Amino acid sequence: MKLLVVGGGGREHAIIRKLKENPSVETIYALPGNGGIAKDAQCVPISATDIEGITAFAKEHAIDYAVVAPDDPLVLGCVDELEKAGIPCFGPEAKAAIIEGSKVFSKDLMKKYGIPTAAYETFRDMDQALAYLETAPIPTVIKADGLALGKGVIIAQTLEEAKTAVKEMMQDKKFGKSGEQIVIEQFLTGPEVSVLSFTDGKTVVPMISSMDHKRAGDHDTGLNTGGMGTIAPNPYYTEEIAKQCMEEIFLPTIHAMNQEGRTFKGCLYFGLMLTPDGPKVIEYNCRFGDPETQVVLPLLESDLLTVMRAVTNGTLAETPVRFSHKHACCVIMASEGYPVSYEKGYEMQIPAETEPYVYVAGAKLDGEKLLTNGGRVLGVTAVEDSLEEAIRSSYEKVGTISFGNAYYRHDIGQRALAALKD
Ligand code: AMP
Ligand code: GLY
Repeated sequence: MKLLVVGGGGREHAIIRKLKENPSVETIYALPGNGGIAKDAQCVPISATDIEGITAFAKEHAIDYAVVAPDDPLVLGCVDELEKAGIPCFGPEAKAAIIEGSKVFSKDLMKKYGIPTAAYETFRDMDQALAYLETAPIPTVIKADGLALGKGVIIAQTLEEAKTAVKEMMQDKKFGKSGEQIVIEQFLTGPEVSVLSFTDGKTVVPMISSMDHKRAGDHDTGLNTGGMGTIAPNPYYTEEIAKQCMEEIFLPTIHAMNQEGRTFKGCLYFGLMLTPDGPKVIEYNCRFGDPETQVVLPLLESDLLTVMRAVTNGTLAETPVRFSHKHACCVIMASEGYPVSYEKGYEMQIPAETEPYVYVAGAKLDGEKLLTNGGRVLGVTAVEDSLEEAIRSSYEKVGTISFGNAYYRHDIGQRALAALKD
């Protein structure tokens, strides 16, 4: 089989590695991939948002199956176009990807169908938003409606900060059209859990739970990033909570999307907060998480391609999806200065014995040399019998890698470890 994977980060590298385990896979094209992915797939310099280019490439190369991994092409209708061209795909159509593409849509959906989430108001008019803030409890959370590279969420600790965030989004158009509408919501507290799920629109199969570490600095300090590391499973996500989430959140969401005529097929990501009032949805993503995928897929024992095709064919109920009982830890190595500004172009040294554990996110090839080419450079995942060992093993592997301006957090998994010892 000839496969195509749209995207070019660590998540896509993890997906490609897992797909390759299926013996029927002959070729995988990555559009655009990256210098590190080039070891595992044929990288083609077509941007992940060039929907026409992707579709033309898929037709020309008689692709048997396509996986669209990032949010932008999904929201732009990449799956719709590939399907029109007769190419079976993993990923939601645009009308379902809106669950991530518009926070106003997702909040209104949750309200309409009684799915637990933070209380909120939406605004199109800046003056109304500013007037509302005068009465809103502080801290408060301001969210741009559309996609904003994970930067469109501001937790304001003072009224002034909240007003500044609203003005930046609505007046200065910091996130362009994504900030034309905003959501102002209640600040919630509690441990966060990421649950990625497979769904064919009828059945929903949650994958193993995970925990992201979003802040740039140790002990959750500094700016929010795309994610600095992950562990799986998440110790806060007990069987009892999983059952409650299935009944109160997962199944109602699938049902709600069907009722709205927006059946979701693909990977639906539930970003949850376990509040004192029970689990609530912080966000939906219409795709695999990054770097959650780098700990979840290494624990998947079933064949990924088989599961993905069952999602596409609507036969997920009859398809076993098994996870190992081991633990995984992924430490992201980034460029110093991420997520604000950073230098790139440094040569990376990755020993051959470490390479199988490395998912490359931001790198380009210069002849034989692999150069850093992004904020998040790579993720190093170890799978072991206990969380403690997985953490130790991933940091040991991190220690074997070097490149200029390398930066990583030293405490990935420590909060989870403390929770396990409680
Ligand atoms: P999001 O991009 O929606 O995942 O938000 C980024 C991060 O902001 C989340 O992972 C949470 O840590 C935090 N966050 C978002 N919404 C809230 C909320 N209502 N209360 C507290 N923290 C939140
Ligand atoms: N790691 C969070 C995300 O993929 O959105």
